[in-house]
Amino acid sequence: MNLFMETGYLDKTTGHTKIYFRGIGMMSVWGCISIAFLFIGMQSAAYGFEPVFARNGMAAGPEPLAVQAGVEMLQQGGNAFDAAAVIGFALAVTYPTAGNLGGGGFMTAWTKDGDPLFLDFRETAPQAAKRDMFLDEKGNLVVGQSTTSLLAAGVSGTVHGLFQIFQKYGTKNREDILAPAIRLAREGFPVSYSLHRSLQANHKYLTRFASTAAVFYPNGKTPAYGSVLKQPDLAWTLSQLSQSGPDAFYQGEIAEKLTRFMEQNGGLITREDLAAYKSKFRPPVIIAYKNYSLIAPGLPSSGGIALAQMLNLLEPLPLQKMGYHSAEYIHSLVEAERLAFADRNYFLGDSDFVEVPVDRLVSDAYLEERRRLIPGWYAGKSEGVSHGNPESHETTHFCVVDREHNVVAVTYTLNGSYGMGGVVAGTGFLLNNEMDDFSAKPGSSNLFGLIQYEANAIAPGKRMLSSMTPLIVLRNGKFAFTVGTPGGPTIITTNLQIFLNMAEWGMNIREAIDARRFHHQWLPDRIQFERFALSPDTLLHLSGRGYTLQQVNSIGCAAGIQTMEDGLLAGYADGRGEGLAAGY
Ligand code: DON
Repeated sequence: MNLFMETGYLDKTTGHTKIYFRGIGMMSVWGCISIAFLFIGMQSAAYGFEPVFARNGMAAGPEPLAVQAGVEMLQQGGNAFDAAAVIGFALAVTYPTAGNLGGGGFMTAWTKDGDPLFLDFRETAPQAAKRDMFLDEKGNLVVGQSTTSLLAAGVSGTVHGLFQIFQKYGTKNREDILAPAIRLAREGFPVSYSLHRSLQANHKYLTRFASTAAVFYPNGKTPAYGSVLKQPDLAWTLSQLSQSGPDAFYQGEIAEKLTRFMEQNGGLITREDLAAYKSKFRPPVIIAYKNYSLIAPGLPSSGGIALAQMLNLLEPLPLQKMGYHSAEYIHSLVEAERLAFADRNYFLGDSDFVEVPVDRLVSDAYLEERRRLIPGWYAGKSEGVSHGNPESHETTHFCVVDREHNVVAVTYTLNGSYGMGGVVAGTGFLLNNEMDDFSAKPGSSNLFGLIQYEANAIAPGKRMLSSMTPLIVLRNGKFAFTVGTPGGPTIITTNLQIFLNMAEWGMNIREAIDARRFHHQWLPDRIQFERFALSPDTLLHLSGRGYTLQQVNSIGCAAGIQTMEDGLLAGYADGRGEGLAAGY
C-alpha cells in the first residue's frame, strides 16, 4: 500500500519535493495548522539538556580516566596538543577496544593563530602485502583473514602521530606526556562495567593468543567490574617511549619484539616497514556551508570529501521547513548520503598511490549533475544490493580545547574491537586489523558492508581508505564546535547529522550528540536507524516511498566541545557510551 503517492511535487531548482503534504487525502485544515505549529516549535529545537561547562579548557572522550589525565595536563599549563597526546596514550591503557599504540588515525586541529591542520597517522600496508593476499586460488575471499589473522595488521601510525602532535605543536616534553599512561598501566585502574562486559563477550576472540590472554584475563579469569587491571608489559613499552621517543617503537626493542611476533605467527610486518613509517601533515578539506566552515580530514580519509559532497547537495534545501526527522528530511539526507557513498567507494583511495579526481568530485558543476539524480519523492535505488553484516566494532574519538582556543580533534582505531586480537608478546599492546579497510576483493563487502573498488586495492606502502572524520566547525571564521565519533562508515553520516543538528536546528552539543541517528551508505541499499529515531508514521511514510529500513541498536559514540556565546566551553561525551567531558 502506498499512502503517499503524488503527495509532493518536484522543485525544478533543487530536484526535491517542495510541498510536503499536498494530496494526503485525510489531512484536515486543523491537521495542517497543527503541523505548522509543530514546525515553529521544532525550529527553536533545544530540548533543554545541558552539556558540561568550563571556562579555561575542556576535554571530551570515551573513557573518564584518560579524559581526566588530559584535563590535568591542561591545568598544569599544557596546551590542547599536549592534552590530546596524553589522552591518546592513556586510552591505549584504559580503553583497549579502540585506544591503541598498534593502530592509526587522524587529527584535525585549529590553532589559536587560526591555522587549520590535518595529521594523517593512518596505517600502511607492509611491503610484502599483495593485491590478492586475502583471496584463495579460486579468487574467493578467505573468511576472517583480513580481520582476525596477523595478515590483517597494517604498520601502525599511532605512536608516530601522537609524538608529532605534541612535539610539533605542544609545549611539554615526552616524559610529561607519557607519565599518566605509564602510571595507569603500572599501578592499574578499576575495570569499568563496560570493559568488564566487553572482555567477557570477547573471551574466545582474545584468548586465541597466549600473549593477549595473559594481559586481559590474568589468572585465566575475566577481570571483575571494579577490580584493578595492571598491564606491566604495556608500562614497559610506554616507558621505552618516554625514554627514547618514537624510535623505540619503529627501530628499537619494541620493533624487535613486534617483528619477532610477526615471524612466529605468519605476519608480514618487517623492521624495514617499521623504520619507513611516517605520519604526514596534509592539507585538510575545508567545506563551506552557509556561514560555517568545516575543517575535515582529506585522503586517506574519505570523510572530508564525502561530507563536502553531502553538504553541497543539502545546502539549497529548506531543511528546517521539512521538520526534524520528517520523512522528507530523512529522504533528503539519505539521497545525499547514497550519492556521496557511491563516489566514495568507487573513486577514493590513498592519493599518494592513485589518481583521485578530488577537485571535480567536490565542484559545484559536478554536484549539480549529481543532484539531478535525486528522485523527488520515491527512494533512489543503489544497484546490485548486497548485505554486509556489521559486527560489533569500535574506534574512538576525543577532543580538547585549551584556554587559548587551540582546538584538537583525534579519531584513532584498531578497526574492529581489539583489532585482530593479538597482543605483541612482551609489549602489552594489540595489533590492528586495518587491512580489512582495503578492498580485499574489489566489489565485495568488508567488515562494514562497504563495497569498494580498484582505487582502494591493496598495494605495498599504501594507506587504506578510512571513514574517520575528526571535525572542527567555524562559524563566521571563529571556532564554533568540534565533534567526532567511531562507527566505520556511519562516522560520516553521524557527523553530518550532528553538524546539521547544531547548524540548522540550534541544538547544543549535548542535544546534537544524543539525538537519534540514521544512516545510508549506498550499498547495502537500506536506511539503518536507531531505536526511537523514527516514529511509526515516518517509517510507514518512508517505506511507502520504497525505502528498506533496518533498526539497529545504536550508531556511533561521539564526543564534542562547543563555545557558548559568553565564551564558556561546553562539552559532552555521548550517552551511548561511558565517556566523560570535563574541564576547569
Ligand atoms: O577507518 C575506518 O573507517 C575504520 N577502520 C573505522 C572503524 C570504526 O570506526 C569501528 N568503530 N566503530
